Amino acid sequence: MGADDEMTKYLITGGAGFVGSHLAERLLDEGHSVTVLDDLSTGRWENIGPLADDRRFKDRFQAVIASADDEALLERLVPPVDFVFHLASAVGVKLIVDDPVGAVQRIVRPTERIADACARYRKPILLTSTSEVYGKSDKIPFREDENVVIGPTCKHRWAYAVAKMLDEFYLLAHYKRSSLPVRIVRLFNTVGPRQTGQYGMVLPRFVDAALAGEPLLVCGDGKQMRCFTSVRDVVRGLIDVSRCPAAVGKVINLGSDEEISIAELAERVVKMTGSSSPIRYISYEEAYGPNFDDMRRRVPCLDRAKELIGWRRDDTLDDVIGQVIACRRNAQKTE
Ligand SMILES: NC(=O)c1ccc[n+]([C@@H]2O[C@H](COP(=O)([O-])OP(=O)(O)OC[C@H]3O[C@@H](n4cnc5c(N)ncnc54)[C@H](O)[C@@H]3O)[C@@H](O)[C@H]2O)c1
Repeated sequence: MGADDEMTKYLITGGAGFVGSHLAERLLDEGHSVTVLDDLSTGRWENIGPLADDRRFKDRFQAVIASADDEALLERLVPPVDFVFHLASAVGVKLIVDDPVGAVQRIVRPTERIADACARYRKPILLTSTSEVYGKSDKIPFREDENVVIGPTCKHRWAYAVAKMLDEFYLLAHYKRSSLPVRIVRLFNTVGPRQTGQYGMVLPRFVDAALAGEPLLVCGDGKQMRCFTSVRDVVRGLIDVSRCPAAVGKVINLGSDEEISIAELAERVVKMTGSSSPIRYISYEEAYGPNFDDMRRRVPCLDRAKELIGWRRDDTLDDVIGQVIACRRNAQKTE
């Protein structure tokens, strides 16, 4: 059981998604009660089906398949819970580029409504934001209170960063207005089992291509650097932040500060899968259409997370690549 050994009732929006389903599983394993609210727009029933079927969780788990911007539903789901994890969102720049209107709506509307419901019933809320909000800043490492540099509105990928930033502003506004206990966590690239490559996420795309003997497509020159963290570590961090009173009203980076280039990641995946797939370089335009902007490096400053929750990572990048390979191999057997 978690803090104080009492059962806590959680609402997780976006709980059928990649991060949300791992979070739900962990909280249930700790003995808590979890309601998942997800419209399955990018999440999948298979991510939470095993939780619904698990007899241990029979009286402690429910899934509501609906949109998190449904005000009437929120009036029913928010009052009985003790804590809200708000993860529901359109995720990633590819979705924003492919569905510019729908994706912005799916970021901003649910946040506004769920934050308002939390304010009405004085429920603590944690929002998962993103490293994207740092935009094109080259002040490495990224500190939470540092200025950000966002590209122009004609380059639509920046809509993701700005919409998530608006989410952050909205929660902080509630904190300012009524001291609503809000917490904001900026996640950096999170990877692990159940993540789908369908919406552009790089590691599952590479692993799927390598297992299928197809080329691994690397955008640009492949020298852009990223930091990857396992979902297992991230979920532990999210829970620790949710239980940290000093985190209220704060924005906190969560991730890894160990960099790897995307080309090197592709090479590592080829090696670890034993694949004979080639690595092919494609232009950003080919991948995302014209006018696409990308950043070369994205490294979090983790001082605040270390200070508040003693943040550390248990899984290495190779550990998590291995987990993703095992998960995709299993999925292919059953597909
Ligand atoms: N995975 C990462 O690397 C990463 C990085 C930065 C930030 N984040 C943030 O973490 C959170 C979870 O991301 P993820 O990687 O698990 O992505 P995901 O797409 O797997 O999860 C998002 C979930 O939200 C659901 N959803 C979307 N709109 C909804 C709505 N209106 N109502 C109800 N459900 C809705 C989707 O169906 C999906 O299950 C998001 O807030 C995202 O911005 C993730």
